[in-house]
Amino acid sequence: MTTELKSKKNCQLILALDIEEKGDALALLEKAGEELDWVKIGLQMFTKYGPEYVRDIASLGKKIFLDLKLHDIPNTVAKAIQSVAALPIQMLTIHTCGGKEMMERAVEAQQKANPELQLLGVTVLTSMDIQSLKLIGIEQPIPNRVNTLASLAKESGMNGLVCSSHEVVALKQAFHDHFTLVTPGIRPAGSADGDQKRVMTPFKAAEAGSNYIVVGRPIYGSEDPVAIIRKVKGDLSDFQ
Ligand code: C5P
Repeated sequence: MTTELKSKKNCQLILALDIEEKGDALALLEKAGEELDWVKIGLQMFTKYGPEYVRDIASLGKKIFLDLKLHDIPNTVAKAIQSVAALPIQMLTIHTCGGKEMMERAVEAQQKANPELQLLGVTVLTSMDIQSLKLIGIEQPIPNRVNTLASLAKESGMNGLVCSSHEVVALKQAFHDHFTLVTPGIRPAGSADGDQKRVMTPFKAAEAGSNYIVVGRPIYGSEDPVAIIRKVKGDLSDFQ
C-alpha cells in the first residue's frame, strides 16, 4: 500500500437517534432513506424499546452503533457483551475508565461472541470539561487523561475509541492508526452546542482524522433533518 493510500482519511456520518418515540425515529429514517448508512442507538431508546428496536432498525438496512457505554465489574460487562453480541450491531461501547481487567474481559467476550463487532472504548465524555472532572476528583488535564485511558485500552486489546475530535490529532500522533476513532460533540456551523462542551465542525473533525463523526440534535432537532444530513455528508465528501 502506498503512503498516500495509507494516510487517506476516511470519515463517515453516524446519526445519534436519541428520539423519544419509536414512530418518530422510524419516520426520520424513512425520510433519510439511503442518505444514511449508520445509526447510533443509545441508552434512551435501548432502555425504552429494547433489542427488538435494534432489530427493527437493522432490518431497514442500517448499520448500528449500540452505545450502551458499559461500565461494571469485569464479569458483568463480559456477560452483557455476550448477550448483546447476538444482535445485528456493528459497534458497541464500553467505558475505558472501567479499567484494564474490565476491558480485557470485554475483548475476550467480544472475540468469542462476535469477532466482527467493533468494541469502542469511551475515554472522556465530550460533555465533561476540566471543571466537571475536578469535581469528581480528576486533576489530570484532559489530553493526559485521554492518553492514559487510550494506552490502557491498547494494552487491553482494544482497537476503537470514542473521544472528542479535539483529541484526535494527539491520539493519531501517539498511536498512529491503531484505533478507529469515533467522535461525538460535532456541531455544523450555526448549530447550538447544547450540553456539549468540546465541539468541532464535521469538516474540521474529519480533517483532524476522525473515522466516524456522531451527530444527533443538529440533525433530528432541525426542521429539515435530511437537508442537514446532506450538508454534513457534503462536508465529509473529501474524506470518503
Ligand atoms: O445530540 P448530540 O450531537 O450532542 O449527540 C451526541 C451523542 O453522542 C449522544 O447520543 C451522546 O450520548 C453521545 N456521546 C457523547 N460523548 C461521548 C460519547 C457519546 O456525546 N463521549
